[in-house]
Amino acid sequence: MPGKRCRIPGTMSPAPPSPLSPAARAAALRDAIRHHDERYYTLSAPEISDAEYDALMKELEAIERAHPELVTPDSPTQRVAGQPVEGFPTVTHVSPMLSLDNAYSEDDLRAFDDRVRRGLAAPAVAPDGGEDAAAGLVVPERVGYVAELKIDGLSIALTYEDGRLVRGATRGDGVQGEDVTANVRTIRAIPLALDGAPGGSLEIRGEVYLPRASFDRMNQEREEAGEPLFANPRNAAAGTMRNLDPAQVARRRLGAWIYQLATPMAEAPASHLETLALLERWGLPIEPHRRRCDGIDAVLDFCHEWADKRRSLDFDTDGVVIKVDERALRERLGATSRFPRWAMAFKFPPEQATTKLLRIEVNVGRTGAVTPYAVLEPVFLSGSTISMATLHNAEDLARKDIRPGDYVLVEKGGDVIPKIVMPILGRREPGVEPWTMPSACPACGAPLHRPPDEVVWRCVNTSCPAKLRRGLLHFASRTAMNIEGLGESLVEQLVATGLVRDFADLYGLTASQLEALERMGKKSAANLLAEIEKSRGNDLPRLLFGLGIRHVGERAAQLLARAFGSIDALMAATQEQLQVVPEIGPVVAEAVRSWFAEGSNLELIGRLRAAGVNLTSLAPVDEDAAVKPLSGRTFVITGTLATMTREEAAAAIERLGGRVSGSVSRKTSALVVGAEAGSKLEKAKQLGVETLDEEAFRRLVGL
Ligand code: IVH
Repeated sequence: MPGKRCRIPGTMSPAPPSPLSPAARAAALRDAIRHHDERYYTLSAPEISDAEYDALMKELEAIERAHPELVTPDSPTQRVAGQPVEGFPTVTHVSPMLSLDNAYSEDDLRAFDDRVRRGLAAPAVAPDGGEDAAAGLVVPERVGYVAELKIDGLSIALTYEDGRLVRGATRGDGVQGEDVTANVRTIRAIPLALDGAPGGSLEIRGEVYLPRASFDRMNQEREEAGEPLFANPRNAAAGTMRNLDPAQVARRRLGAWIYQLATPMAEAPASHLETLALLERWGLPIEPHRRRCDGIDAVLDFCHEWADKRRSLDFDTDGVVIKVDERALRERLGATSRFPRWAMAFKFPPEQATTKLLRIEVNVGRTGAVTPYAVLEPVFLSGSTISMATLHNAEDLARKDIRPGDYVLVEKGGDVIPKIVMPILGRREPGVEPWTMPSACPACGAPLHRPPDEVVWRCVNTSCPAKLRRGLLHFASRTAMNIEGLGESLVEQLVATGLVRDFADLYGLTASQLEALERMGKKSAANLLAEIEKSRGNDLPRLLFGLGIRHVGERAAQLLARAFGSIDALMAATQEQLQVVPEIGPVVAEAVRSWFAEGSNLELIGRLRAAGVNLTSLAPVDEDAAVKPLSGRTFVITGTLATMTREEAAAAIERLGGRVSGSVSRKTSALVVGAEAGSKLEKAKQLGVETLDEEAFRRLVGL
């Protein structure tokens, strides 16, 4: 942290009794905080320490708590909105958020420049000032471009009304995105109010990113909590923006760079470079390494320069965006339905290195999937030393003919773990043999199976310790049962000592059992027990997700909990009823049904129930989403019923969530048969559709 270079009168020291009125002091604090936000986030040149910054914020919060009438919507305290949102409403962008065409080589960039210059060809002007028809069109020799770094984050559209930030939206499909205003307001680089911008509505676009340091910290925390790691800062930023809790978003410290003014403005500057300068004057963060390039050769220089220098930045960039600078020229070039013709993204080539594949080992996942991975001779690649690479599956290995002992080409794409591109066959030594998948699980020795239509081998032993370890880490993870302190080494010990053989065993652990484990003091044991105790009361979606049912992620767990309201109702659900839930398709439905069909799983639920773990939804069941006894079933009524009219019968079916149709088909669940039934009964018999007489029907609908 650089030393203090600038002091703003009356705003640095933590609140000696201020001679200013609360309103004036609050205003001074707001200005100071905004100033420091800009120094920190936009200019990367902070003037005060984090602690001093926090003291300013705390003082402002205290004034606003004491005088709520002084809170302004653009006050820095309003960045951290308290209330999690239910989902994100859809918003429509003022104009489509287009994508960019990609260039991968010097040739691609030169071809782009040719297209631009030909697109801008103008009739030749004769010496007398008239058009020289004979000379035809003149293609300009050089076009003025602006080269900018392509930020590897996610695009964002900001709306300012009369200078105040009123909305932040994701790109979505380009036409409509999601309203993530509450989250955007937590990003300190994005000003809540613009300085000197014209009135009316302005849409401004840019990229939100996660600084590398925040990414590393976040993945480290996730690793400690046993949660899956984010593959790269872009995925982490995207996941963060879609987080429903703005307070969590604020903690991640996202950054932003703005690259476009999307609202057409009569008084807009004539060039892109000037527009960026204007946006910067309004207080928006503009990436500082942009450069005006006259002609494509200067653009190529910029691309070569940054292909190397990019690792010195604290954010990821995956290329360079090249844009025609002059607004009038852009307008002449126009756009296709997907890309502007005046811009191009040059993608940096992925970085590769050659190293030796020492051996291939296998890893057993939570669902029992056994996947091979490569142990490499350590090699330096894209800023870090790598010693492991993913290998996907045995088939992929065989197809690429990768063998232990080979020299291989490794590449770091968008993933944390690099991948092997191909073996260098010219360097293969004699005696290097193909690899074969082990036939038994390396953790428990049970034979491995591969279903005929899948590529993944699995250990199907329900008590395999490797699966149990992974399963426990998932069960305890922050988005599942959120048991803090149950990390890898502890899980390892709990499984190895036999203290925990399934999730329910966690609830029977005692202080003395825990204290006997390595690196477990009295205090950590007590903390862990308190965490486990707290998790008993968790809401149903957390438990459902934590159980690790295949294909049931956080979202599916929420939908299922909302629709069924309890584990018991979910357990009793048929495949049809599961599929009635919006967004739940046949794959998830089948996975849920077969999980509950397994005796050992039912036993686990029984043991969790006995341990006092909450098995019901804490939120009231959503009536619209609720799955009722006849949900997903279609009935046809035929003939004359003795005790009710057809309308009454239909109403009874619909009240219980069923549907009534006029004709029998293979999809009909049952035919309700009254007196003098005719052709429908024949058809039902032909198709093997179940039939119900009036009495059976009355029982079914509880009349
Ligand atoms: S300009 C119509 N400039 O790249 C042109 N885009 O592949 C609008 N991106 O969705 C884009 N850095 O989110 C532009 N300096 C930059 C950029 C940039 C990153 C993203 C943008 C877009 C994607 C296209």
